[in-house]
Amino acid sequence: MSSEPATAAIVAAAGRGERLGSGAPKALRLLGGLPLLAHAVRALAAAPSVDLVVVAAPPDHVERTQALLVGHHDGAALLVVAGGDSRPASVCAALAALPTTVDVVLVHDAARPLVPVTLVESVATAVRAGARAVVPGVPVVDTVKQVQGDQVVATLDRTRLRAVQTPQGFSRAVLEQAYAGTGWSATDLTDDAGLVERIGTPVAVVPGHEEAFKVTQPVDLIVAEAVLAARGVLA
Ligand code: CTP
Ligand code: MG
Repeated sequence: MSSEPATAAIVAAAGRGERLGSGAPKALRLLGGLPLLAHAVRALAAAPSVDLVVVAAPPDHVERTQALLVGHHDGAALLVVAGGDSRPASVCAALAALPTTVDVVLVHDAARPLVPVTLVESVATAVRAGARAVVPGVPVVDTVKQVQGDQVVATLDRTRLRAVQTPQGFSRAVLEQAYAGTGWSATDLTDDAGLVERIGTPVAVVPGHEEAFKVTQPVDLIVAEAVLAARGVLA
């Protein structure tokens, strides 16, 4: 990396994948013969704006993660660090490893292996153009109701809702400020932009992409295999 301002992509990959079931950490589970994490790193590194990818790996598998990513980060440098015991702790560990030249940070879930390179680039570009925080969002297809116990208490206006994906993009200063306090240990925190919202920084939304979906349950892996096949990557 040169000494010019740089863009880094953090990959949160230290989760156990309990909802997916069956043993191995989710980021290391195979999709079309490659670990989910390798798919994600390939897409991030291929984005023209991304200079460095920093992976927060399962703490017991740092060396294995480093080894399996050899040859899968064309277009960007790679760092692998040990993740933490929650997603925000993993993001913190990766933030702490960033070189000083980095001024724009994307944060991505390893569990979104099929994120299109174009989406990565559109988030990075929006931050480079001046937005301090950017999330990709897609319209919600289901009707969403607020419930209490087994009773519906409200129906939300779907046209005003977005399901938010990753990568989310931030100016480094904003993301570091958001993570500087203890707010990141809140148990209701499910994304990085949520933490940035809590410090009062406006968050912009750009169009997300249906292929950036998160692999959470076994059915999502079946869908992911089908998407890969449709891309022509699998026979
Ligand atoms: N993650 C992480 N460190 C943790 C927990 C989660 O880096 N301690 C990452 C996961 O690896 C994943 C992303 O955060 O890429 C989103 O989390 P999720 O989909 O919940 O993945 P898991 O925590 O692995 O799955 P589960 O909650 O089913 O155990
Ligand atoms: Mg989880």
